[in-house]
Amino acid sequence: MNKAILTFMIISLFLLISCTNNTKNSDDEIEVGITIYRYDDSFISFMRRNIETMLNGKAKFIMNDSENDQVKQNDQIDAAIQRNVNALAINLVDPASASFMINKIKPAGIPVIFFNKEPSKEDMLSYDKAWYVGTLSEESGNMQGEIVVKAWNSNPAWDKNGDGKIQYVLLKGEAGHPDAEARTERIKAVLTNNGIEIEQLDEQTANWDILQAQTAADAWIEKYGNNIEFIFSNNDAMALGALKSIQKQGYNIGDNNKFIPIVGVDAIPEIIEEIKKGTVVGTVLQSPKDQAKAIVDMLLNAAKGQDVLAGTEYKLDEVKGVRVPYRAITLENINEASEAYK
Ligand code: BGC
Ligand code: CA
Repeated sequence: MNKAILTFMIISLFLLISCTNNTKNSDDEIEVGITIYRYDDSFISFMRRNIETMLNGKAKFIMNDSENDQVKQNDQIDAAIQRNVNALAINLVDPASASFMINKIKPAGIPVIFFNKEPSKEDMLSYDKAWYVGTLSEESGNMQGEIVVKAWNSNPAWDKNGDGKIQYVLLKGEAGHPDAEARTERIKAVLTNNGIEIEQLDEQTANWDILQAQTAADAWIEKYGNNIEFIFSNNDAMALGALKSIQKQGYNIGDNNKFIPIVGVDAIPEIIEEIKKGTVVGTVLQSPKDQAKAIVDMLLNAAKGQDVLAGTEYKLDEVKGVRVPYRAITLENINEASEAYK
């Protein structure tokens, strides 16, 4: 082959390759990968739909259901790395697997936004292209505690055995999940700090799940009946499960002598309806819409190789996390909860 033609061909090939690489960074060619720990989690399903709506038309994306299986999620991340996506957003199955994930993602240099299940500080700081979007877990437990303090103090009849203490049962989310751990600890601490004595009848892990909570509450009603003076639930889905269970036994359906106050977290629409009916005392709003917005804004910025906060007003904390604030919700301010879940 003629030397000039060969040189021409090599140069053309170079141009072609560099062109394809460049266009990956233009808006319409951006591709991002999102994994969700499980689609059938009530709160997360709102987050997922918001993320989808907000990404539509802004980037190509593949969203995966990890079906609560860390091995499956690892494979999904491997596949996204293979596709050479521009950025990843990961709702971990197991928060403790962040370091394992980072070890896969870091060599590929792909930016990653973790959300909802917070990795440890050490893991967050081990990769400069890792960020987090979520809440401050303790805040939800503190607010839940304050709701209970106020409600308990204004309803003396709720102390059914008149001993001045709250005999309670607690529904815990997934063990090891920062939200579950902090909510479980803080609600008790706030009550104690406010001079309210508490006595735990039982605590059960129901993994954020309505059915598991219903099963736990069935057993509690059988064992303790009306001696239960409060049900503390780490989230609303489990609070709903508990409500269904006790309603089957005639509680919280209008008979004042058969009432067990319940408190949750999230402010999902079903719980808002129950608060209006008076069957649930209160909840703590965490906004799926605001969190999805932060995830999408940061994901797109990262995918385009821009400053992750470009064009936003978010602030990063010491672990490169953006925190969306919680809000305590009771009947008094119930309307404040409606926007976040639309
Ligand atoms: C929510 C739960 C949800 C969990 C999933 C928590 O922040 O309050 O409802 O199940 O996240 O990780
Ligand atoms: Ca009591």
